[in-house]
Amino acid sequence: MAEAPIKAFVCGHPIKHSRSPLIHGYWLEKHGLQGSYEAVDIAPVDFPSFLRSLEELGYAGGNVTLPHKEAAFRHAEKLDGAAERIGAVNTLWLEGGHLCGSNTDAYGFAANLDQQLPGWDSARTAMVLGAGGAARAVVHALQERGFDEVRIVNRTQARARDLQMRFGGSTSSHGWDEIEKLLPSTDLLVNTTSLGMAGSALLDISLDGLPDHAIVSDIVYVPLKTRLLKDAEARNLRTAEGLGMLLHQAVAAFERWFEVKPEVTDELRQRIVHDLGGAK
Ligand code: ATR
Repeated sequence: MAEAPIKAFVCGHPIKHSRSPLIHGYWLEKHGLQGSYEAVDIAPVDFPSFLRSLEELGYAGGNVTLPHKEAAFRHAEKLDGAAERIGAVNTLWLEGGHLCGSNTDAYGFAANLDQQLPGWDSARTAMVLGAGGAARAVVHALQERGFDEVRIVNRTQARARDLQMRFGGSTSSHGWDEIEKLLPSTDLLVNTTSLGMAGSALLDISLDGLPDHAIVSDIVYVPLKTRLLKDAEARNLRTAEGLGMLLHQAVAAFERWFEVKPEVTDELRQRIVHDLGGAK
């Protein structure tokens, strides 16, 4: 008897703008797999019962996105190290009937830089703008790669302090007014705030103080080239776009359910760029 196709999902609320079905659908086709990956809109109130019914619905697992990542963390019976450290889950799977959770965002962040700027992690001092869920994933990735100093800078400094307490060690917390002072000793700058995203305010900081060897990375991918990245390019600094993090976090999730490690190719990237409306 042929094995049943593997079913996976992405759930969020709303979910219709998610590019994940396109990414996973591309890989399923590429690898000639019979599986499926579908978007499901689940309101927060229905999320716990959705999780309880995964087996009945025939799912091997799935992705969770806003606003369910913290709830998924609370409901998972087993967590991997990344999910524990980050305090949020974006990938779920069933193992012997138990709900397991991981967070592949940190992996996605680092793998994107590995692909775009090999050797990026020889940098020692990073500045992370923002203190939300995305910042937690990035800080975890930077600690994993052994950064000596990870400076967390946030408009609301108390939230940066919360992250510093959570991650300890190499982290420090700072207010927005300290950016200029910290830039000259920063090797890697990462924006994890929503600033610069289409429809949001611009991230308005001067990069003049960054050293010439600095790398600038943005997790915002609409537009593909944010003002921050354009400013960095104008200064001839090396940059890494946010779309790559989205593509690479999907690699680890896909491998979890479908047991094939897919590749982030230019063709895949172009498909997503096309779907984003050629966002510049
Ligand atoms: P996520 O979980 O996706 O990272 P979040 O928890 O809403 O999202 O965090 C958004 C981040 O963008 C926060 O660091 C937020 O700063 P505050 O903690 O001070 O709110 C930051 N952010 C959003 N709008 C901003 C703005 N206009 N200026 C500076 N930072 C902003």
